Amino acid sequence: MPDYNNNYSRRRFLTQSSLGLLAVSGMPGLLNAMEGMQAMPKIAPRKASPDFKPDVDIELLCKSAAVPILVGKETQVMQYSAKLLQGPKGTVAEIPGSYLGPIIRLQKGQKVRIHLQNGLSEPTVTHWHGLHVPAEMDGHPLYAINPGEQLVYEFEVLNRAGMNIYHPHPHETTAKQVYHGLAGALLVNDDEEAALELPSGDYEIPVVIQDRLFDVHNQLIYARGMHDRMTGFYGDRILVNGRADFQIDVDSRAYRLRFMNGSTARIYKLGWDDGTPMTVIGVDGGLLEKPETKPYIMLAPGERLDVWADFSGRNEGSQLVLRSLAFSGVLPKMGMMMHTSSLPVGSDYPIFTARVTRKVSDSPKLPSSLSKIKWYKTADTANPNSPVPIAISEGHMAMLLNGRPYAYNDVQPSERIPVNSIQLMEIFHAHGGGHGKQTANDGQGTGHQGGGMGMGMGGMRHGGMGMGGMGGGMGMMMTMAHPIHLHGQSFQIVSRSIDAGSEDDYATVREGFIESGLKDTVLVMPGEKVRIIKPFQDFKGLFMYHCHNLEHEDMGMMRDFLVE
Ligand code: C2O
Ligand code: CU
Ligand code: CU
Repeated sequence: MPDYNNNYSRRRFLTQSSLGLLAVSGMPGLLNAMEGMQAMPKIAPRKASPDFKPDVDIELLCKSAAVPILVGKETQVMQYSAKLLQGPKGTVAEIPGSYLGPIIRLQKGQKVRIHLQNGLSEPTVTHWHGLHVPAEMDGHPLYAINPGEQLVYEFEVLNRAGMNIYHPHPHETTAKQVYHGLAGALLVNDDEEAALELPSGDYEIPVVIQDRLFDVHNQLIYARGMHDRMTGFYGDRILVNGRADFQIDVDSRAYRLRFMNGSTARIYKLGWDDGTPMTVIGVDGGLLEKPETKPYIMLAPGERLDVWADFSGRNEGSQLVLRSLAFSGVLPKMGMMMHTSSLPVGSDYPIFTARVTRKVSDSPKLPSSLSKIKWYKTADTANPNSPVPIAISEGHMAMLLNGRPYAYNDVQPSERIPVNSIQLMEIFHAHGGGHGKQTANDGQGTGHQGGGMGMGMGGMRHGGMGMGGMGGGMGMMMTMAHPIHLHGQSFQIVSRSIDAGSEDDYATVREGFIESGLKDTVLVMPGEKVRIIKPFQDFKGLFMYHCHNLEHEDMGMMRDFLVE
């Protein structure tokens, strides 16, 4: 069986190459490298195409730098910097004093060329998290470039307005590079959004939340061993936009706060300290149809959130603190994976303070209707009765998807997706029969219920999902939350359902999820099962799906869909 699959996927891979999808046909280096499952082949870096006429042309450099973060000594980081070669003013905006990459602001419909320069001393590649671009422009780890090399991306902005992320995606070192500073916000604007006249300029504020751990010399400490990788790595200081003790001074009016969780592993439960509800106007894939208010919002690594924060009527000198509020259940409860950060996940701590420093009489009004979203129904999908499985398996020393570690040439039958199809997908925890507490409570009769693995979808779909060394007890002990991210077009959430045994913890987070917008990352809690509908339109090739707990991603909790 494995042989069949390997040969099979190898054939697929070569077929793709010969079609030019990967533009590597005839490269002897690639063919040799492909004989090994683990090693990534080296693809010659793509060059600019003379036929592509860019509206925006950017040089994006990754390099080492030293930046002031804490009082005293500067911190060694890795940093993106960008130069606008061509395009509208304001396309590239530095965040002064931050290690974060500049904010890149694009318009829907623009043709964009980006020259990525690797000024690091190790391989890297950049992925445009949230953008719908061709596979060979997506920053797949296959396209990583060596120090000194340049990779040229060319794509058209097809996305609706929204906040996306650019960050590295090299094989097994994504987390480390992001942790050391390589990440930035990529905003897309469009006409639908512009017509709303949402707060902009000084009244639109990015809020990139990250946690970091520093040594006594102000240098970053990163994962020290297997434990840090199994749970994900947690710092004990919260940074916003690259700054410790971030504050904003605001007028007494409405603001648009654009949140991104840029942490490698930490999950936040965002809420205002005085109990003011959070007014949400958008999520990962752009604006909601209408604003929604929530007591708090869960924000997992890779997720974004567009918040309407109205300080109208507040007095000069007053302040409002955004906190991460208490919650439970996202990390394993016992054993070697016990969480020992001095800033525990799920404890209550401040993120930033907004101080009203100026009283003004005028403020924009929150629009009652924001946008139009094209929703699909289960009946619109190619597979209404056999969702594509994304099984989370938490083994003793391994975090996997569909029971297999990442390999670039290991596409399984359930991972082959016809291009231009709409797919029903189901993300669930693969605890085998050992869990014992599953109840069918979403009323949809999915075929995963009842503790069996291979039900309802045919054996191949679940092939190789054996939980080696993972008995029921182990499953319970290791289970944790995973933010599952799918590259390519954003998806909609159809349903969430939770095991009977996990309900108490779930009650501490359940009001913080938003299903009324388009997503590319979804937090899947222990005992939870999430159904999504995702279109795979326009582009063939490899599109990754993985846990956006970046330590998990680097451990191999990542797979490819082959869209063909
Ligand atoms: Cu934000 Cu594949 O990642
Ligand atoms: Cu992505
Ligand atoms: Cu994970």
